[in-house]
Amino acid sequence: MSTPAGPPAVGVLDQGPQLSFPPGFLWGAATAAYQIEGAATAAGRGPSIWDTFSHTEGRVVEGHTGDVACDHYHRVAEDVRLMAELGLKSYRFSVAWPRVQPTGSGPANQQGLDFYRRLVDELLAHGIEPWLTLYHWDLPQPLEDEGGWPARDTAGRFADYTRLVVDALGDRVRYWTTLNEPWCSAFLGYSSGVHAPGRTDPAAAVRAGHHLMLGHGLAVQALRAGRPDAEVGVTVNLYPVTPATDAPGDVDAARRIDGLANRFFLDPLLRGSYPADLRADLRSVTDFGHVRDGDLAVIATPLDLLGVNYYSRHVVAAPAEGAERSGPSDWPGSADVRFVKRGVPVTDMGWEIDAPGLVETLRRVHDEYTDLPLYVTENGSAFVDTVVDGRVDDADRLAYFDSHLRAAHAAISSGVPLRGYFAWSLLDNFEWAWGYTKRFGMIYVDYDNDQARIPKSSARWYAEVIRRNGLAA
Ligand code: NOJ
Repeated sequence: MSTPAGPPAVGVLDQGPQLSFPPGFLWGAATAAYQIEGAATAAGRGPSIWDTFSHTEGRVVEGHTGDVACDHYHRVAEDVRLMAELGLKSYRFSVAWPRVQPTGSGPANQQGLDFYRRLVDELLAHGIEPWLTLYHWDLPQPLEDEGGWPARDTAGRFADYTRLVVDALGDRVRYWTTLNEPWCSAFLGYSSGVHAPGRTDPAAAVRAGHHLMLGHGLAVQALRAGRPDAEVGVTVNLYPVTPATDAPGDVDAARRIDGLANRFFLDPLLRGSYPADLRADLRSVTDFGHVRDGDLAVIATPLDLLGVNYYSRHVVAAPAEGAERSGPSDWPGSADVRFVKRGVPVTDMGWEIDAPGLVETLRRVHDEYTDLPLYVTENGSAFVDTVVDGRVDDADRLAYFDSHLRAAHAAISSGVPLRGYFAWSLLDNFEWAWGYTKRFGMIYVDYDNDQARIPKSSARWYAEVIRRNGLAA
């Protein structure tokens, strides 16, 4: 049965045929530590680069910080209950490095680990599979003071931290992600500087990208040693990159941005090499002298799965006639490429809604890179929400999820080994440089009203999708 207008309303899945997902498909929702936990100084937690950054004037909209966030740290039991009500099969969360190792080196802070032991036990008690991300952007500040990710030593520190976490939680966590979206850590953190630590040094950003991946490879090895049957992966944020026209300049712009957005990470992680054209594009930025013999073999340590975060597509064009290389950019070596808006509907982030791009992305990874099981570890949208009579009817977010789940289903039907999907996000939360002004949650958080949680229409609809393991056809 097709829906006549717009996405299915809640309950419509009770009737008619459906697009079923494979048995055992892992339905989940995701969050990240700094975005939801709050309790920034509790139980020995040290400062991270995001504490420093958000407390620096002018860095985050309206001066928002993660000091309190959704106060999840004190509301774990309530939040896990909400997850159980949604019927989540899995919950993807991140461990805050500075809770576990307040200065980024030395012994574990047991109180910090206790928090995650409690969370994981609570999940297991509700039959929810914990999916643990080791690094979702909160580098301990002392490590940034010693050079941060552009410094090689940080990779080794990350492996040490990984050992502490796997020693503590390896007995109860099976799914592990090393890094979340290393592109953001490297290029937003060190090139354009719109994310912590806010540096604008393109060469440092390229080094950071390499050392993040080196840290990933070392962490995979530490995880294998700590829990041999762990399911280990990394999460990359991928975009289809399309030229605005088929003019050679636009096609070349697309090649360059695809190099920086996607292949910079996919090639080393899955093929053990940097693409030659990318190295050539970055010639004015770096000579890749930071890459040592053996690094790429470590980076390409075999994985069990790959996590893909998907939000939108990039459409790009050649630099405008006579354009100068402009200031700080997310794109080292390609600051003059133009990003074109096609005039299609966008989310509150201004990101174009492009569900077919998810099929394209998953197919590309499968066809060009790997047979590994794939998981959409994030997908979702920010929209302005309003509470009316205690309810939030987020039809636009629900439609976004619906169209992207149809795309996920199409990808599976075409032979992509997609094994699970995590909605971003469980809760409204601290959206980095946008603070609390952007809402991605399926559950509304009323920050001014004792952090009340209100499941939105999209949450009720998602619960139904999970229950049925499918969507109305
Ligand atoms: C990706 C990031 O992993 C997450 O932290 C962020 O909130 C979402 N994208 C939305 O921007």
